Amino acid sequence: MTRASASSLRNPRAAHGYHGRSCSITSVGSYVPDRVLTNADLERMVNTTDEWITTRTGIKERRLAAADEFTSDLATQAARRALERAQISPEMVDLIIVATITPDMLFPSTACLVQQKLGARRAAAFDIEAACSGFIYALEIGQQFITSRTYDTVLVIGAEKLSSIVDWSDRNTCVLFGDGAGAAVLQNRPNAHGLLTACMGADGSKGGLLYMPGGGSRVPATADSVNARLHYLRMEGRETFKNAVNAMYTAARESLRRCNLEIGQIKCVIPHQANQRIIESVGERLGARPDQLFVNLHKYGNTSAASVAIALDEAVTTGRVQRGDLILLMVFGAGLTWAAAVIEW
Ligand code: UT7
Repeated sequence: MTRASASSLRNPRAAHGYHGRSCSITSVGSYVPDRVLTNADLERMVNTTDEWITTRTGIKERRLAAADEFTSDLATQAARRALERAQISPEMVDLIIVATITPDMLFPSTACLVQQKLGARRAAAFDIEAACSGFIYALEIGQQFITSRTYDTVLVIGAEKLSSIVDWSDRNTCVLFGDGAGAAVLQNRPNAHGLLTACMGADGSKGGLLYMPGGGSRVPATADSVNARLHYLRMEGRETFKNAVNAMYTAARESLRRCNLEIGQIKCVIPHQANQRIIESVGERLGARPDQLFVNLHKYGNTSAASVAIALDEAVTTGRVQRGDLILLMVFGAGLTWAAAVIEW
């Protein structure tokens, strides 16, 4: 059984009295740039092999944005696709939330740039930063605006141009990441389900496992900071791996518990696409069958906030999930941050 029967599925939102307001995920969309960087290409750039990258990560290739293509462009393309599918004009959007760690610039926000590019003149706009966990954080924030009666139509986007902060001479990190964007349209719809629950968490004491030292108020850009390579992301891979498995497992279990669901009732588990071994390890601990796990990281690598957004779009457009199916999303990233969510699609 993939779909929960009405008696077993509990919508945790209903218990909190939202007075008939309910939020649907009306549509999704995604966009990845055309340029493909394969493992063979990376073999020519750093001391690595296709065999190492494939067996340690599962990644075969990733997409790179063009020099004149920025996070706001990727976000806008994904958003246009989602809006077209929902048959919504940009003027109908009340709010745009962009989750990203690679904004076009420190300010104005990428969401404001997207608002202009889309022509969504009525929309308020802001960015959130929860690294790879950003899309679930943003979905939950968007849903809160709808159930609180503040807005009727919210556009949520996860978008990254990680190639702009990757140190292309560091084999530990440069093989892992890619560029892309995914978007979702949230709307007030009677009796909709959408995001049934989202469990979010953070542990700031472990911020040093994955971070970018330069470019903020602590280390503003100077010739010295550039020479010291402080404007690239840094990661302690092994420790990050362990934390990722534990945090995603715990958040996923709690999400299922809140909805009174067993893992077997989930049609599709969509984990953050960082590493095949992390996905398998969490899947195994959750008791998920391999065919429940959605994986596309061999094509795109780790696209941070865009990762599960792109995967959700692919799961929908390939027919892997149908309306009414239950989806479990789980994410993990810098902060540290993590989240899991149950969606009734
Ligand atoms: O999205 C945010 C969350 N991020 C993640 O969840 C990523 C989590 N971490 C990982 O996915 C893995 O830890 C990595 C893929 C980053 C690394 O895999 P690992 O199995 O943990 O390898 P390691 O870091 O323990 O390194 C093993 C060896 C090292 O060599 P020595 O010191 O044992 O001689 C590395 O220098 O592999 C070496 N190595 C490489 N060799 C060839 C590291 N990168 C490469 C490379 N090619 N690209």
